Amino acid sequence: MMPETLVKMGLKGALSDFCDNMNASNSMTVRFQFVGQFERLEQKFEIGIYRIIQELVNNAVKHSQADKLIVQMVQEPHRLCLIVEDNGKGFDVSAIGQGKGIGLNSVKSRIETLNGRIDISSEFGKGSEFIIEFILL
Ligand SMILES: Nc1ncnc2c1ncn2[C@@H]1O[C@H](COP(=O)(O)OP(=O)(O)OP(=O)(O)O)[C@@H](O)[C@H]1O
Ligand SMILES: [Mg+2]
Repeated sequence: MMPETLVKMGLKGALSDFCDNMNASNSMTVRFQFVGQFERLEQKFEIGIYRIIQELVNNAVKHSQADKLIVQMVQEPHRLCLIVEDNGKGFDVSAIGQGKGIGLNSVKSRIETLNGRIDISSEFGKGSEFIIEFILL
């Protein structure tokens, strides 16, 4: 199912709405920042990226114990970059896929399907950062 705001406003508005709602419904501060020139994307990108950000934000709420989470979308004419960063407890990135969770694995396979890249870094006691990049031709 595609959220109504995504169809109407595109990724920038939908992610902004989503982050506002997560901010209001959790003790964690969730901020959305947009940098660049907004343009609508192919629907498969809009849906895929929305789902990816949903999972990463939900993970931060469920697992990180952070008090701050920042979601950034940087849109350039031929490049799209998304950054999700929390200041929580961190986790062992090399153990992804070994537990029973499927969220991060599905994030990775969505990104592969869209020909993007993801870089995950995390430090115990400091937080986690997910950087996602797509080259748009
Ligand atoms: N932002 C984060 N901070 C701390 N730990 C995290 C964070 N994101 C993920 N993790 C850790 O990575 C594990 C794997 O995440 P993943 O999304 O794959 O599974 P899950 O959230 O446990 O379950 P599911 O997504 O299938 O409901 C989590 O169980 C958690 O231990
Ligand atoms: Mg998850």
